[in-house]
Amino acid sequence: MSSMSEAERQLRLLYAQALQEHLAGGGEATLRRAYELGRKAVADGLGVLDLAAVYTGAAAASMRNADSDGNAVEKAEAMHGFLIESLSPFEITHRSFREANAALYRLNEILEEETKRIAHMLHDDATQLLAAVHIALADLASELPSDLGNRIQEIRGHLDQIEAQLRDLSHDLRPTLLDDLGLLPALEFLAEGITKRTGVAIVVEGSTDGRLPPSIETALYRIVQEGLVNATRHARAGRAMVQVTRGPRSIRCAVRDNGIGFDVQATQTDKNRHSLGLVAIRERVNALGGALQINSSAQRGTELLVTIPLED
Ligand SMILES: Nc1ncnc2c1ncn2[C@@H]1O[C@H](COP(=O)(O)OP(=O)(O)OP(=O)(O)O)[C@@H](O)[C@H]1O
Ligand SMILES: [Mg+2]
Repeated sequence: MSSMSEAERQLRLLYAQALQEHLAGGGEATLRRAYELGRKAVADGLGVLDLAAVYTGAAAASMRNADSDGNAVEKAEAMHGFLIESLSPFEITHRSFREANAALYRLNEILEEETKRIAHMLHDDATQLLAAVHIALADLASELPSDLGNRIQEIRGHLDQIEAQLRDLSHDLRPTLLDDLGLLPALEFLAEGITKRTGVAIVVEGSTDGRLPPSIETALYRIVQEGLVNATRHARAGRAMVQVTRGPRSIRCAVRDNGIGFDVQATQTDKNRHSLGLVAIRERVNALGGALQINSSAQRGTELLVTIPLED
């Protein structure tokens, strides 16, 4: 095996040695070493299968070295115990990975709830307050001489601007349309806003055939949002398209652009990258048990294909 790393070679040696000593009656001390060697394997980036191979090698060697007087059952038990100890660091790593994933998912939900709350507050509460100020100012203006009244009109003009900005901000955070009318109207609204800001023409088509579960509506909205922002930021695209298709047991959503494309594989394996957009898309799709495919080429641009299963 020429591809074996130095770390693995060393691990094999130490592992075989420790197992040998364990079988010679090492007890707790050699079990402790099994655990430490497992941790070293994790730290060196070896997988469970690598460790299994290391164990198999060590076990075979210990068979060859065996004196025939040992009790076979006892020996098998000792080997088993040693293997379990050396595997347990993998189990711990795996568990904390799962826990971290679950925590991320919960965090995402909390953030989304918080965003919704702020967006609705900006949209409803703040604009209601402004409306009250409007009315009070209009009252005041009617009782004042006209030159003062005109200055109050000016102030009301500023208030209108603030109100429009609050609405935009609220929609950027999370369109109330998404909660009130569902995915397609919210996507159309999103696309309009992006086109206005960037000049990229965006077509939204398809149907959800009624409302979807809120978690799916939110996820698809965020996915399309990220896809379209990427198309306008990175792709130098002139056009983009969003297509939503309802199947009997799933909902499919495609985001396409006619831009310059990118190397999907390289982007995903590049550890120096700190971009989160595509990672977050994948995370959302996984959380809903769906599938994501990204196709990209310089000739045909980029397409994100998302499929989310629906319960019937
Ligand atoms: N539609 C696209 N066209 C061309 N390149 C793209 C497209 N989408 C993504 N990319 C490339 O993939 C990279 C990763 O995208 P991703 O959305 O994960 O990160 P980002 O947009 O750079 O940053 P972030 O989304 O975290 O603000 C981008 O930097 C870009 O190089
Ligand atoms: Mg992005």
